[in-house]
Amino acid sequence: MRKMLLSLFLLLASLVGSLALEDLDGKAFVFPVATNTARVVLKPTIPRPLTNFTLCMRVYTELTRGYTLFSYASKRDSNEILLYLEKPYQFSFHVGGPGVTFNVPQKFSNSPFGEHVCASWESATGLVELWMNGQPLVRKSLRKGLSVSAEASIILGQEQDSYGGGFDINQCLVGEITDVYMWERILSPGEVVFAWHNYPRPDYLINWKSLSYDIVGDVFVKPALLSAQRAG
Ligand SMILES: *[C@@H]1O[C@H](CO)[C@@H](O)[C@H](O)[C@H]1NC(C)=O
Repeated sequence: MRKMLLSLFLLLASLVGSLALEDLDGKAFVFPVATNTARVVLKPTIPRPLTNFTLCMRVYTELTRGYTLFSYASKRDSNEILLYLEKPYQFSFHVGGPGVTFNVPQKFSNSPFGEHVCASWESATGLVELWMNGQPLVRKSLRKGLSVSAEASIILGQEQDSYGGGFDINQCLVGEITDVYMWERILSPGEVVFAWHNYPRPDYLINWKSLSYDIVGDVFVKPALLSAQRAG
């Protein structure tokens, strides 16, 4: 009997541990070196396939090569959602495989203080938006009518070429990332500006202030050096 209770307790403890949510407000994930292994695996609950979403984050890096901001792979496509910087001032944003390119005017940049980026997609219209430091770029179109798979492997720091793997050292992030949020809706322009100033509106799928994640390799949780105080 006692043995059974003990194993029940251990089971409960491991369940609680795997569901632990952490408030990372004021903190950042720091990726100090280029590797093809170091990453953060985000473990949100995606309750159903997505037909609308907005994704925001703040990133601070010296890289001039391409790197990954957010990699959401499904079993059907490793670029189910991908936000990638091709080179300074040029983002590509993928939904369900294909992507569109956004060229950011240099005047939208907050360099050298780190950049706040939001991207959204609406299935009903296929419209995609990209916002840099609260400034909108011209809307584009991608994968109208698709539903984004809810079964996902979500990774920061590496780009997935397969579900949960296929990393390339030349696409990793070296730097830090903070204030990562995702919503199952399209934020209004005002809400994007709030997110930029680090007052994100509720109804999160991914909530930086209540985050479930695993770290693999050399990624460190440290006070953020970049902050919303420098935004704008
Ligand atoms: C997605 O947005 C459209 C309009 O933009 C809305 O009609 C629809 O209900 C939304 N879907 C969900 C699941 O929220």
